[in-house]
Amino acid sequence: MSLHWNEIEKIAKAWTIEAGENIKKALENPIEVKAKSNPDDLVTQVDKETEQFFYQKIKETFPGHQFLGEEGVAEEGKLNSLDGTVWIIDPIDGTMNFVHQRYNFAISVGVYHEGVGMIGIIYDVMSNEMFHARKGEGAFLNDDELLPVKERPLHEAVIGVNGRWLVEERNVYQNPLRALVRDVRSIRSYGSAAIEMAYVAADRLDSYISVKLSPWDYAAALVILNEVGCVASSFSGETLSLLESGTVVTAKPQLHKEVISLYLGEEF
Ligand code: IPD
Ligand code: CA
Ligand code: CA
Repeated sequence: MSLHWNEIEKIAKAWTIEAGENIKKALENPIEVKAKSNPDDLVTQVDKETEQFFYQKIKETFPGHQFLGEEGVAEEGKLNSLDGTVWIIDPIDGTMNFVHQRYNFAISVGVYHEGVGMIGIIYDVMSNEMFHARKGEGAFLNDDELLPVKERPLHEAVIGVNGRWLVEERNVYQNPLRALVRDVRSIRSYGSAAIEMAYVAADRLDSYISVKLSPWDYAAALVILNEVGCVASSFSGETLSLLESGTVVTAKPQLHKEVISLYLGEEF
């Protein structure tokens, strides 16, 4: 059984590197950008091609596995169960950065078995940093093992949060989030949830918080975070769904408890 996951991990990493090379090549030519749900919600043909690349590879190599990707390329349509082995993929996390900066974006690949996270890969393509983990085998940044995280008190914590959530009028969490931002040491917004959650695992951030993320944003991160002793949940402390979007708090365990109990855990 363990050899099996070792093999799948090797294959997943090789595909991720290949997909990264394809993305770098695509950047040599003009990128076709379109808007999705609103003019600031961007998608490019590279997002779609990258998802298609993984989908084809998975179908050819593991025909019995299920697939969930942000761009919805799967011919079998929407995923509605976590039965068997499921690949959950964000082909480019940080599309806005991809388009505007050509930097700071990642490929995120999570592999789950009967709902349990087995493999997590977050590949920051341009900085060539691959954060990866296999259940029970520790988490790594390239070849270096990530250490179990050390807590920092809330007033010394640096947290990742998308600044938009602090001003969005319809966001019911606006005031508690502002209070949290006031009380921590500082905040950062890198523009890729996957990279920011990998940074929590790598002790570059103490927490990452979002009012709305989807399974493809955090599937890989959950496996990596778990290996270094970090915790992830919704604002109300519930386990994150791999089929539905929702609020997300990832953090070191003590900080996670404080963020939820002191700031975000109530109904607003
Ligand atoms: C987005 C990025 C962004 C986060 C958004 C995500 P996408 O993913 O991770 O940092 O704030 O909530 O949707 O659309 O670039 O894959
Ligand atoms: Ca994406
Ligand atoms: Ca994403």
